[in-house]
Amino acid sequence: MTDAQFRKIAAIVHQDSGIILSESKRSLLMARLNRRLRVLALPDYGAYCDRLDSGDGPEERRHLLSAITTNVTAFFREGHHFQSLGQDVLPAMITQARAGRRLRLWSAASSSGEEPYSMAMTLLDAFPDAANHDTLILATDIDPEMVERSRRGHFSAEAVTPVGAPRVKRYFQPQGDGYDAKTDLKRVMRFGELNLHDDWPFSGKFDVIFCRNTAIYFDSAARQRLWSRFAAALNEGGALFIGHSERLDGPAAALFQATGTTQYRRNATPAPART
Ligand SMILES: C[S@@+](CC[C@H](N)C(=O)[O-])C[C@H]1O[C@@H](n2cnc3c(N)ncnc32)[C@H](O)[C@@H]1O
Repeated sequence: MTDAQFRKIAAIVHQDSGIILSESKRSLLMARLNRRLRVLALPDYGAYCDRLDSGDGPEERRHLLSAITTNVTAFFREGHHFQSLGQDVLPAMITQARAGRRLRLWSAASSSGEEPYSMAMTLLDAFPDAANHDTLILATDIDPEMVERSRRGHFSAEAVTPVGAPRVKRYFQPQGDGYDAKTDLKRVMRFGELNLHDDWPFSGKFDVIFCRNTAIYFDSAARQRLWSRFAAALNEGGALFIGHSERLDGPAAALFQATGTTQYRRNATPAPART
């Protein structure tokens, strides 16, 4: 893959997803695209770039993202969600949690952990003593290897770059060639394996659900069923964050109010009519 080809593809990936493909990801990109070249019977990456420019380009960009994003994640990815979580969603919930109410956040496709750890940092920034209250962030994924990585909480120096130096200092400690999440951060987190299409083993409801860049891989019936299950799993006023290229469709859409780009609040269920 030439420099120009890499830059072109990286620019498309960034434009479509906000994901930055650093030079160190070039071999990963090549490995992922090799499969795609075989499927399309294309001879090389130049021919693939031509396809991205052709009439098939828009469709191919979706395949490109799928090839790239299987487990791809990043700290504070789609940063506006974390701003909104910290500024608009959590403050009232934290006030209630301090008064004894249960507070539950869920990263429903947490990959290697960057998303739930970003949620945890956002929470602890505003609620440093969260661990002393009934407050938890649940991180689940279908991929056991990813769950194990999240649980371990070790990240490369490159991965923690978007965290920023003050938060790295506060929430991580250097370990080998990277960083380990500190116990304070992990104390409010729980990790587990869960396929979103299976039954969910939860006894209570959630206040915040992040399910980003995953439902896009589901067919529309499965996706709409998932939105309905999230609606049922959220408390009234609870917040749902979905991925940049996803949208809330189907019957559940009426149960939510949009509060920003790909973010929603669960409506109150109307009280039953008095007889
Ligand atoms: C692209 S990553 C998204 C990670 C994170 N949510 C983000 O936006 O940065 C997609 C994740 O969804 C997980 N996944 C795919 N199908 C799933 C399913 N049926 N149930 C739970 N997780 C699933 C994959 O293992 C992968 O870790």
